[in-house]
Amino acid sequence: MDEKARTLTAEKTAAGFRAADMVENDMVIGLGTGSTVFYMIERLSARIRDGLRVSGIPTSYQTAIRAREYGIPLTTLDDCPVIDLAIDGADEVDPHLNLIKGRGAAHTREKCVAAAAFRFIVVVDEQKVVPRLSAPVPVEVIPFAVRPVMNQLREFGCLPKIREGVKKDGPVITDNGNFIIDCSFTEIPNPANLETTIARIPGVVESGLFCGFTEKTTVIVGNEKDCRIITSTDIVP
Ligand code: 5RP
Repeated sequence: MDEKARTLTAEKTAAGFRAADMVENDMVIGLGTGSTVFYMIERLSARIRDGLRVSGIPTSYQTAIRAREYGIPLTTLDDCPVIDLAIDGADEVDPHLNLIKGRGAAHTREKCVAAAAFRFIVVVDEQKVVPRLSAPVPVEVIPFAVRPVMNQLREFGCLPKIREGVKKDGPVITDNGNFIIDCSFTEIPNPANLETTIARIPGVVESGLFCGFTEKTTVIVGNEKDCRIITSTDIVP
């Protein structure tokens, strides 16, 4: 592993471990998706072995498989429609705690679980904290409507591209059986407006813009030595 990869791993581990340490007995927690959440699962698993009682709601098949491997008891939004805490990664975080998520195509379930939670803990490395959101915005869309949705997205000024599978020919199929369109915008001046505008297109399931959770969000930014915490009280109006 080179120096850069080592630093990144240390940052993700620090953030994931800190989030797992915030979990308390008898909590129901949302288990996000991705590599940073993986470290959280690892640490949570160790705490469960030490006697912690929790159950988790996984946001993807990947997380469900890992959580089972790591001995984390699972439940569902059907059984627990209101939950204590959701812990998840992000691809970008801006100074207003707006997020872009969905690199792993799991953002629809991740948004449902974040919405159901009293608190939303976002675990990231330093590279994810940006002055302005600018990453491509993933949009989950039902396959039936992919052409008209792409045309609409183009009208909003983006370059839409259907996400292609790796080790699978053709489009990525999400855990919900849909396609992902990655939308590159030259700029995103108002992420909340864009989230609402995209959500109104018939055929769109969810975008990876997360702008409605800032009040209940705590961002844990891992660094090589420790973590720094950002909450809504740190937002400069
Ligand atoms: C999956 C996600 C992930 O949480 C996000 O991509 C961050 O992943 P990682 O921690 O691996 O960088 O939104 O859909």
